Amino acid sequence: MTRLRFPDSFLWGAATSAHQIEGGRHEGGRGESIWDRFAATSGKIEDGSNADIACDHFHRWREDIGIMKGLGLGAYRFSIAWPRIFPAGRGKPSEAGLDFYESLVDGLLEAGIRPYPTLYHWDLPQSFQDGGGWAERDTAKAFRDYASVVARRLGDRIGHWVTHNEPWCAATLGYEEGHHAPGHKDPSEALSAAHHLLLSHGWAVEVLRREAPDSEVGIVQIHCPAYPASRSEADEDAARWFDGFFNRWYLDPIFRGSYPDDAVADRVAAGHLKDPEMPFLREGDLAAISVPLDFLGLNYYSRVVMTAGLEGQRLDIKPDPPEDLTDMGWEVFPQGLHDGLLRVHRDYNPRKIYITENGAAYDDPIDETGRIADPRRIAYLREHLKAIHRAIADGVPVEGYFAWSLLDNFEWGFGYTKHFGLFAVDAETQERIPKDSATWFRNLVSANAVDDAPTRTIHGESRAFDS
Ligand code: FCB
Repeated sequence: MTRLRFPDSFLWGAATSAHQIEGGRHEGGRGESIWDRFAATSGKIEDGSNADIACDHFHRWREDIGIMKGLGLGAYRFSIAWPRIFPAGRGKPSEAGLDFYESLVDGLLEAGIRPYPTLYHWDLPQSFQDGGGWAERDTAKAFRDYASVVARRLGDRIGHWVTHNEPWCAATLGYEEGHHAPGHKDPSEALSAAHHLLLSHGWAVEVLRREAPDSEVGIVQIHCPAYPASRSEADEDAARWFDGFFNRWYLDPIFRGSYPDDAVADRVAAGHLKDPEMPFLREGDLAAISVPLDFLGLNYYSRVVMTAGLEGQRLDIKPDPPEDLTDMGWEVFPQGLHDGLLRVHRDYNPRKIYITENGAAYDDPIDETGRIADPRRIAYLREHLKAIHRAIADGVPVEGYFAWSLLDNFEWGFGYTKHFGLFAVDAETQERIPKDSATWFRNLVSANAVDDAPTRTIHGESRAFDS
C-alpha cells in the first residue's frame, strides 16, 4: 500500500473548545457566558442539555493530556474561557481562572505537546451581552484587555496564539440566524458584530505581539467553498454570493484591508446595510484588522453547491446520494479542502496555514467487548488528509493538522447528540473510550504518513475555483 508522507516538521494535533468540554460551570468562580444563558432558555438545545459538566475536563485535564500523549500528538488546540478569567466581564481577573490554564499549559509542555490556545471560542461573558455583546464596540475593547491579561500570564510559554474561532459562526449563527447564542435574528446587528469581532482580532494581535513578542499569532476561519450547481449565470452568481457572505467577508478585511464590494452591495440590496458606508466602520479600523499575521487557521468540514431559485433566491442543494452525509447533514467532500487551500493560498497568501479543525460526526455503537468501530470517520479523515497532502505537493504551506475533536462533546445547539470525537465519553462515568479512529490516528501520527487506500467512493464532482 502506498503511503503519503508528510513533511518532517508537520504538526499533528487535536482540537477542542472550553465550553464544549470543560464543565466546572461554577469552579473557580467562573462567570456566566452567553452559552450558559442560551442553554438555560427552553427549546434552544436539541436534547435540552447544557455544558455544566460536559466532559468534566476541568477536573480531568491531566487524564486528557495523557490520552493525547498516547496518540503521540505534538500539539493541542484548546480555548480559554473568557468568563473564567473575567467572571463579571470587567473588574479584576480571576487568579483561579488564570491558574487553571497555567497548569494545563505546563502539563502540556511537560508532555511535549505544544499548546495552541484560542482566546475566543464563542463563550462571551453574559455581562457583555447585557450591554449589546459583539454589536457594541466596547466589547472589542474589553477583548483587548482580556487578551493582554492572558498573554501576560502565559506569554512566556505559548508559541502560537489564535485570537478568534470562526467569527462567521459567532456573528451569523449568533446574531443573524439565531441558532447560536445569543440567539438573535437581526442581520444588521450581525454585520456590526462581525465587524467588532474582526476589530477585536486586530487589536488583540497587537497586544499579543507586545506582551508575548516571541510567539506567533493567527486567527481561525471556517472555510466553505461554494460551487455553482450549473454553469448558468444565475447559479454562478449564487455561488459568488455565498462565498462573499461566508468566506470573503472575513478573509478580505484580514488580508486585504477592505470588505468585498460585491458582498457589501448584496447586503445593501438585502436591506441589511443602509449604504456601503457601514455605520460601525471607523477610520483606522481596516488597518487594524489587516495587521499581518504569522499564520491562518482553517477549519474545513464541507462545501455548498449553490443554485438560484425561480424568484432569485440563493439555495444550497442537498447532495445525493445521502450516504455521503455525516450526522450533521454535511456532505463528505474532501476535494473541497484541496480546492479551498489552493484558493486561499492563491488569493490571500497567508505565510502558513494550519488545518485547525477537520472531522466528522457519526454515531457508532460500543460493542460487548468495549470496542467502537468507526470506519466512516477513518475514511473521512483519511480522504481529507490525502487532500491536504495534494495541496502541500501543489505548494500550499500547510504546517499542521488538528483533528476535531479529541472527545465527543457538547456540540452547541445539538447538545450531546453529535459525536465528533476520536474518543467517546461515557456520560455516567466520564470514561474516555478510544474509538478505532483513535488507534488509526495514532498510527498515522507515528508514521507521519497517510495510507493511500481508497476506503469508499466519495461521490461528487470537483471543480477548481478558477476553471
Ligand atoms: C466548528 C466549531 C467547533 C465544532 C465543529 C463541529 O464550527 O468551531 O466548535 O462545533 O464546528
